Amino acid sequence: MKILIADDSKSMRKMLFTLLEQEGYKVVVTENGKQAWNILQNEALHLAILDIVMPDINGLELLRKIRSSESTADIPVLILTSSTKIDLKTQALDLGASDLLSKPFSREDLLARVRNMVRTKSYQDGIKIKNEFLEQKIKERTQELKDSQMDLIWRLGRVAEFRDSGTGNHIFRVGCYCQIIAKKLGMNRDFTDTIFLSSQLHDIGKIGIPDTILLKQGPLSAEERELMKNHCSIGAEMLRQDYKTSSRFAAKSNFYSHNMVDKNAINPTIDTASTIALTHHERWDGNGYPFGLLKGEIPLESRIVAIADVYDALRAARPYKQAYSEKETISIMKKESGNHFDPLVYCAFENSYNELNYIYDQFSDELHCKTEIGASR
Ligand SMILES: [Fe+2]
Ligand SMILES: [Fe+2]
Repeated sequence: MKILIADDSKSMRKMLFTLLEQEGYKVVVTENGKQAWNILQNEALHLAILDIVMPDINGLELLRKIRSSESTADIPVLILTSSTKIDLKTQALDLGASDLLSKPFSREDLLARVRNMVRTKSYQDGIKIKNEFLEQKIKERTQELKDSQMDLIWRLGRVAEFRDSGTGNHIFRVGCYCQIIAKKLGMNRDFTDTIFLSSQLHDIGKIGIPDTILLKQGPLSAEERELMKNHCSIGAEMLRQDYKTSSRFAAKSNFYSHNMVDKNAINPTIDTASTIALTHHERWDGNGYPFGLLKGEIPLESRIVAIADVYDALRAARPYKQAYSEKETISIMKKESGNHFDPLVYCAFENSYNELNYIYDQFSDELHCKTEIGASR
């Protein structure tokens, strides 16, 4: 236990030093406020005993500094004074003095106060260390939970994609693109983290589409196309928290009461994923499916996914098409701004183009899902 004594009286310093050292405390002494402030900032102290009248910085000024600095604010301070002025004592207490002692004082009186304050400080330090440890543990556990949730969601997305195209990279890339575009739109960290994960489940509903349609080489018939469109409501239903009330997906009007992203959902990532699964094929001009939602009726998350998904589909080679070059991709997509795509999101997409290309190159593969402009599945 270390105690600082700051007093300009040599005899007082000597007396206090001897007394406290005999009690087993480590004692640091100084005769002026400036030096005392240096010691206070650099040493782990359990108590500071300050005289009021000192050169450079007086005891009250020093007390004010101690209480206003984060590193010293919780050090107990015992003020020694030979003044009998009530004002001075009140001022010291107002500034945060832990205790006051008038000179001359008895040995027993001083030691009793010192013991109390040092003991309290030790308890406080113990609680602080314990809290820091617990906070660290909570941080670690939260991160572990986030990591395992991320891993699970990615694997779940891969289930659908493996059946469809045999690779998991498309969904990961779409997640990255969405995060980048959302950042460019100025969305907060919560939004960008959520869309990174939830967008990776956009085609999870393809699990419910028969192989004869999902794996068919060449174009789908009109009837098959209609069946393929069901992957949106199937995906949404799989992911909804209250999945039992599945009939709500039957009508557009029900969409608004049940499918806007619910910020208070138990699992906001999965809840957002459900909304994305349902509406990622909606178009800005109202010609999308399943509801034909128009412009701002489409959740922002889905407007972002629509662009990211199409971009990746165009860049990648398919069994029935070559990969488009960067230049061709941007020229095709530009024409869709205001038609398929929200123009504002498109603008963010264009401004993120270099980053998106980098992601595509880093996580490239040969075969991807079958979404593309004009032949959306
Ligand atoms: Fe889809
Ligand atoms: Fe996709």
